Amino acid sequence: MSHNLTVIDHPLVQHKLSLMRKTGTPSAQFRQLLGEITQLLAYEATRDLPLSTQQITTPLAEIDAPMLAGKKLALVSILRAGNGMLDPMLSLIPSARVGFVGLYRDEETLKPVQYYFKVPDRLGEREVIAVDPMLATGNSSVAAIDLLKEAGATNIRFLCLLAAPEGVARMQEAHPDVAIFTASLDSRLNEQGYIVPGLGDAGDRMFGTK
Ligand code: URA
Repeated sequence: MSHNLTVIDHPLVQHKLSLMRKTGTPSAQFRQLLGEITQLLAYEATRDLPLSTQQITTPLAEIDAPMLAGKKLALVSILRAGNGMLDPMLSLIPSARVGFVGLYRDEETLKPVQYYFKVPDRLGEREVIAVDPMLATGNSSVAAIDLLKEAGATNIRFLCLLAAPEGVARMQEAHPDVAIFTASLDSRLNEQGYIVPGLGDAGDRMFGTK
């Protein structure tokens, strides 16, 4: 589709995703799989983070050792389903700051309604990684990125588990600078704005609601 969309079709990711899609996969397993896939997506999405060197001493030698450099990271969870991706991200990048954007989708208009916004300071100095498992219509994701940019963010990546072509197109139109990483580009949206084949409501499945 575009250079700004990366589909991570690694066999481990695809296998775990198929287990997540299956009706009847229990919430505990669903969360576990989401965490594992998130870390594999994060591995790719952070591939270009800049490194600098620090002199360290191993038991055998002194070396200039590569260490993460440059901008600090901020992870932003788009509530509530984004929370399923947050802890796995923090396990990989424990020093990252964390923000939350609370948006729910009005089921009639499918438009996002904001109910919470709290992000780290000096967002413009940070690499921001926003997480939300489902890029469906793109309405919530675009609104979340709008808010992050209003708060000063200039360098944003977006990680999701599944994307619909409609959501990707909407994001790329509104925010062409935001790189999207996903485990699958699915076929389409249905009339209710659900991704097909998808996996249903990600929040409900991970938290056992409904
Ligand atoms: N949100 C979900 O949880 N699932 C979809 O298919 C679309 C949006």
